[in-house]
Amino acid sequence: MKKPVKVVVTGAAGQIGYSLLFRIGAGDMLGTDQPIDLMMLERNNEQSLKNSRGVQMELDDCAFPLLNSITATSDPYVCFKDAEIALLVGSRPRTADMQRADLLAANAQIFVEQGKAMNEVADRNIKVLVVGNPCNTNAYIARRCSPDLNPRNFTAMMRLDENRTLTQVAQKANSTVAQISKLAVWGNHGGTMFPDLTNATVAGKPALDLITEDWYVNELIPTVAKRGSAIIQARGHSSAASAANAAIDHIHDWVLGSNGEWATMAVPSDGSYGIPEGLTFGMPVICKNGDYEIVKDLELNQFQKDHIAANIRALEEERAIVDEIIAKA
Ligand code: NAD
Ligand code: LMR
Repeated sequence: MKKPVKVVVTGAAGQIGYSLLFRIGAGDMLGTDQPIDLMMLERNNEQSLKNSRGVQMELDDCAFPLLNSITATSDPYVCFKDAEIALLVGSRPRTADMQRADLLAANAQIFVEQGKAMNEVADRNIKVLVVGNPCNTNAYIARRCSPDLNPRNFTAMMRLDENRTLTQVAQKANSTVAQISKLAVWGNHGGTMFPDLTNATVAGKPALDLITEDWYVNELIPTVAKRGSAIIQARGHSSAASAANAAIDHIHDWVLGSNGEWATMAVPSDGSYGIPEGLTFGMPVICKNGDYEIVKDLELNQFQKDHIAANIRALEEERAIVDEIIAKA
C-alpha cells in the first residue's frame, strides 16, 4: 500500500469543490492505488463551515477506500501543514457583467494569506494549482508570498481552455479528441488567451489542413476565449464540473505524466519565447517523473508572436496591480 499523499482543496464548499472532491476521492486524480489525506479549507464563517461539514458528511457516505482521512478547517496553517498538493479554488467567481481581471482586488488577499501559510508549513516541494480567478496572477501572488518553496511548482489552470479547444476542433474536423495532438493554449486565462493550432495534428494530419483559416481565427479563438462567459450566461453560474475535470487532468498529468503528449499548463516563465521571466503563462508542456518541461525550440510565426505579445501585455498589467498589494502585505 502506498503512503497517503496530503492534498488540500480550498473553497471546499463551493460549486467546483462539490465536483472536485468526489473525483479526487474516487481516484481520478492520483490513480486508484494512491491513498489520500484530504484537507478541506473554507472561509471562517458559520455558513461556509456548515456547508463544508455537509460536504464532508457526503464524502464519508461515499466510503471511498482511498480517503485515508478527511479534515475540514478554516485555518490555513492547519490545512497546509505538510501538504504535498494544493488545489486553490476558494475565491469569488465573476458575474456576467465582469471580466476575470475585475476579480483581482476581491481575491488577491486570499492568495497572499495562503501563500504565506504554505511558505511556513507546507511540504517544501508542494505542487500548487491555482483555479481561482484571475488564476495566472493569483498563482503569481501565491508564489511571491512563498519565497522558500519551489517556485516552478506554482501553476495556474488553463487545461479547461485546452479541453474546450479540443472539443471544438474535434467537432469541426469530424474527428475525436483522442486523435488530436500538439494543441496548446498560450498566455492568460482571460480574454487574450491564444488557442494555437499551428503544430496541432488530427489523426496525424495538420489540423490547419482540415479547417479553414477563417474558422480558426474568427470562430475558434473567440469561442474558446468567451466560453466562460457563455457558460455564465447559460447556467447563471460559472463553469464547475468542467473546471473540476480540468483540475483533475492538470494534476493527474503533472504527477503521473502526459505520456509524451503536450498538455497546457500556466507555469512561471523561464524566459522562453521572449515571455518575461516569472509571468505565469499558459504554454505547452510535457510531464514526466512528477515534473513538467516547457516544450522548447518551436519556431513561432508572426501570428503566434502577436497573440503571445497581447497576453504578455495583459499579464504585465495585472502584475503591476498586484505588485503593489504584495508590497503592502
Ligand atoms: P463558489 O463561489 O461556488 O465557491 C467558492 C468557495 O470558496 C466558497 O465556498 C467560498 O466560501 C470559498 N472561499 C472564499 N474565500 C476562501 C478562503 N479564503 N479560503 C477558503 N475558501 C474560501 O465559486 P466556484 O464556482 O467554485 O469558483 C471558484 C473560483 O474558480 C472562482 O474564482 C472562479 O472564477 C474560478 N474558476 C476558474 C476556472 C479556470 O479555468 N481557471 C474555471 C472555473 C472557475
Ligand atoms: C471559465 O473559464 O469558465 C472560468 O474562468 C469562469 C469564468 O469566469 O469564466
